Amino acid sequence: MEFKVTHRCHTTRARVSRMVLAHGETALPTFMPVATQAAIKGLTPEQVESLGITLILNNTYHLNLRPGVDVLKAAGGAHLFEGWRHNMLTDSGGFQLVSLSKFTTITEKGALFSSPFTGESTILTPEESISIQHAIGADIIMQLDDVGEYISISRYIGPRVEEAMERSIRWLDRCIQQHESSGQKHTQNLFAIVQGGLNPSLRDKCLDGMLERKDRVSGYAIGGLSGGEEKDVFWRIIKQCADRLPEDRPRYAMGIGFAEDLLVCVALGIDMADCVFPTRTARFGVALTHTGPMNLTLGKYAKDFDTIDSMCPCLTCRDGTSRALLHHIVTHETAAAHALTIHNIVFQAQVMGRARDAIIAGTFPDYLRSFFASYFGDRG
Ligand code: GUN
Ligand code: ZN
Repeated sequence: MEFKVTHRCHTTRARVSRMVLAHGETALPTFMPVATQAAIKGLTPEQVESLGITLILNNTYHLNLRPGVDVLKAAGGAHLFEGWRHNMLTDSGGFQLVSLSKFTTITEKGALFSSPFTGESTILTPEESISIQHAIGADIIMQLDDVGEYISISRYIGPRVEEAMERSIRWLDRCIQQHESSGQKHTQNLFAIVQGGLNPSLRDKCLDGMLERKDRVSGYAIGGLSGGEEKDVFWRIIKQCADRLPEDRPRYAMGIGFAEDLLVCVALGIDMADCVFPTRTARFGVALTHTGPMNLTLGKYAKDFDTIDSMCPCLTCRDGTSRALLHHIVTHETAAAHALTIHNIVFQAQVMGRARDAIIAGTFPDYLRSFFASYFGDRG
C-alpha cells in the first residue's frame, strides 16, 4: 500500500493522509460503513459508490459461513461477487465469534465455535482466518486477535485480559507467517490489532510486541474498546496507543461510530474507524444530524414537513423526503430504512470529510468547537 501523511493539525494530533490500495485511493481520516452480509443493508454497490464511499468493511466470519470460501473463490473474490469496485477491509472473525455467541471458547490453537447453520463444531485459527481473507481478497485484512470470551465490561479488566493480549501477539506472528507465505502480500495488506483492555501497562506491553513487527505489518488497529467503558478511559487508551503507533502507518480504531467519538479519535491521531451504529440505527428510524440524533418514530414528527436536514447533500434530503413521511413509513416500509441508511452514511462521511478539510485549512480546533456546540447544544 501507499500511505502518506499530507497535512497535520498544529494544535491536535489530527492528520490527513492519502492511502492507495489495490482498488484505488481513500482519503483519511475516514469512517468505514459495515457491509456484514456482503452488502450494506438496503443499498446497492452503485448507491454506496454514489455516496462517495471508497472503503467498506466486510466480515470474515459472515462471508465464511455464507456464501463460503468456495463460492468466493469461484466468483474471483468478494469485490467481484459483490460488484464493489473500491477498497474493502475485512475483520478477522474472532470478535464476531465472541460477540455473537456465548459459547465460543478460545484456545491457543484458535477460536472454537459451533456453526449457527449446521451446529457443527469448528475452529477458526489465525492461519485459517488469513486464508479466508485471502479468498475474500480484501485490500486490508486483519490479524485474528484474542478478544477474550463473552463480551462485557468485565472482559476489559478481568484476569483474561493479559492472556488475551499476549496471545494476540503470538497470533499476529502466525498471521504474518501465513500472509507472507501466500504470495498475497503485495495486493493485500495485513494490520495488527493492539489489545490489552483498559490497563495502560498491558497496552504498553502489547505495543512493545507489535511495534517489533512493524516491518511486517501495513497498519495498526486498536481493539478491545467500544464495550461500554467510560469515555475518559476510552480516550486515554486511544491516546496512549495512537501516541506510540508509527507515524508512517494508518491507525484504525475498531468499532467506533458515534460522531463525537470519531472526532475525538481524529484529534488523537486516528485515521480510520468503523461501526454498525449509523446503518443499524437508520433501520430503527433514527437519522443522524448536526444537532444530534433524530428519532423519527416519535409522534412529534407526524406533521413535520421539513427534510431531515435542509443543508444535507444526500439523496434522501435532496429529494425532499419529509420527516413526516419518514415517520409515517418508518415502522412498516423498508423504503424508510433505505432512505435513512443513505442519509446516515452521508452524515458520517460529512463529519469526516469536514474534519479533513479543516485539518488542511488549519481550522480543525474551530471545527471541533462548532461541531460540539451544535451537536450537544440547545435544541430549543
Ligand atoms: N471490532 C471491534 N472491536 C474489535 C476487536 O477488538 N477486535 C476485532 N477483531 N474486531 C473488533
Ligand atoms: Zn440527508
